[in-house]
Amino acid sequence: MAKNANLGAAKNAKNDEFYTQYADIQKEVNAYIEYNPDVFRGKTILLPCDDPEWSNFTKFFAQNFEFFGLKKLISTSYAIESKKFKEGYMPSLFETESPHYDIDKTRTHGKIFVLDHDTNASGRIDIDDLEWKYLEGDGDFRSKEVTALRDEADIIITNPPFSLFREFVVWIMEANKQFLIIGNSNSITYKEIFPFIKNNNIWVGVSGGSKTYIKLNGEKQTMGNTCWFTNLDHGRRHEPLKLMSMADNLRFNKKLKGQQEYMRYANYDAIDVPTLDLIPSDYDGVIGVPLSFLGKYCPDQFEIIWRSHDIEWAENHCQFYKKTDKTIAAKIRAIDKTWRAQIPYFLDENGNHQNVFQRLFIRKKQ
Ligand SMILES: C[S@@+](CC[C@H](N)C(=O)[O-])C[C@H]1O[C@@H](n2cnc3c(N)ncnc32)[C@H](O)[C@@H]1O
Repeated sequence: MAKNANLGAAKNAKNDEFYTQYADIQKEVNAYIEYNPDVFRGKTILLPCDDPEWSNFTKFFAQNFEFFGLKKLISTSYAIESKKFKEGYMPSLFETESPHYDIDKTRTHGKIFVLDHDTNASGRIDIDDLEWKYLEGDGDFRSKEVTALRDEADIIITNPPFSLFREFVVWIMEANKQFLIIGNSNSITYKEIFPFIKNNNIWVGVSGGSKTYIKLNGEKQTMGNTCWFTNLDHGRRHEPLKLMSMADNLRFNKKLKGQQEYMRYANYDAIDVPTLDLIPSDYDGVIGVPLSFLGKYCPDQFEIIWRSHDIEWAENHCQFYKKTDKTIAAKIRAIDKTWRAQIPYFLDENGNHQNVFQRLFIRKKQ
C-alpha cells in the first residue's frame, strides 16, 4: 500500500512536468483578442509556474507585448530543489552566462522575469528586454512573494501543476483575478471548482480537443483530457447551440430510431440526452447532458442546475431527485456492487437497471 502510494506520488510529480506548445497558446489567446482586441491593453499579466527561459507562455506574451498593449509581463519559475521530480536539470546558458548567475541559488531559488520597458534602446519592447533575478524563495505560487505578484497582476495565465490544480484555482479566485489556465477536463466536477462553473464564474475556453505537450526529455505527449479554463469572455459562449425540437429529433434523428420518447431516469425527474445534438430546443423540463456540454455552453441559452453523482446535493437540495425504493435498491445492489443511489439510471419493465455516465442537469432559459 505504502509502495503504491509512493509510486502514485512520483507519477503525479512527473505528470506535472509537461510543457505547452506555442501554437496551442496562440490559438487560444487569439480567440480572446478576436472577441475583444483590448482584452490585454494596459494590463499586467503574471505567468506563474513557468520556466521563463524557455516557456512558450513567456515567449508568446513577450513577443506580443506591444501588439497586445501590455503594461507589464511577469513570469516566475519554481526551483528545481522544490520540485518532486528533479531529474535532468541543467541551468541554461542564458542563466550561467548572466552576471546574476549564482551557483548556490540556481537550484534552490525560483526566478522572476519582468518585461515593462525598452531596456536595450531598440525602439520597441520585446523578448530581448526581459530582465531577471532570483526570487527570495523557491517560486512556489503559494509563497508570500508570488502571492504579492498575483495581487499586483490583472490576469494570471499558465499551465499550472495538475497535482495542485484545486489549490491553484482557489488561489486565483480568492484574489478575484482574471485568468486563463490549462487543467484536466475532469476537474470540472471537483467540489472546489464546480460551484464556480455552475455560477458562470469560470467557464471552459475555446480550443477543445486533445493537445500535445512537450515532456522533459523533449518527446511529445498527446493528452485528450485537458482543456482551458477561464473567466475571460469569448465569442463561443455567446453562440447558442443550433437545436431541433423534441418532435423533430424523435422523427428524424437516427440516434433515437425506434424510440417514441426520450429516456427518463428512474431516480431523477429528467430526460436523458446522451449526445449534444439530441438536446431538444423546446423542452422546458430538466435535461441530463454529458460533461462535454460545457465546451458548447451558451449561458444565454441554458442554465446549469447542478451535476449528477452528488448525493449531498441530490438528497438535500435537488427538487427533482426521486429516492429509490428500499426493496428496489436492495435488488439492484445484489447484482451491482458499484450502484449508488445518486448515479442516474434507467429501469426497464423487468426491473433491470442501467447506470448512466456522469451528467450535468440543465434547463432552457425562459
Ligand atoms: C504542467 S507544468 C507547465 C509548465 C509551463 N507553465 C508550461 O505550460 O509550459 C507545471 C509546472 O509547475 C511547477 N510547479 C509544481 N509545483 C509548483 C508550485 N507549488 N509552485 C509553482 N510551480 C510549481 C512544475 O514543476 C512544472 O514545471
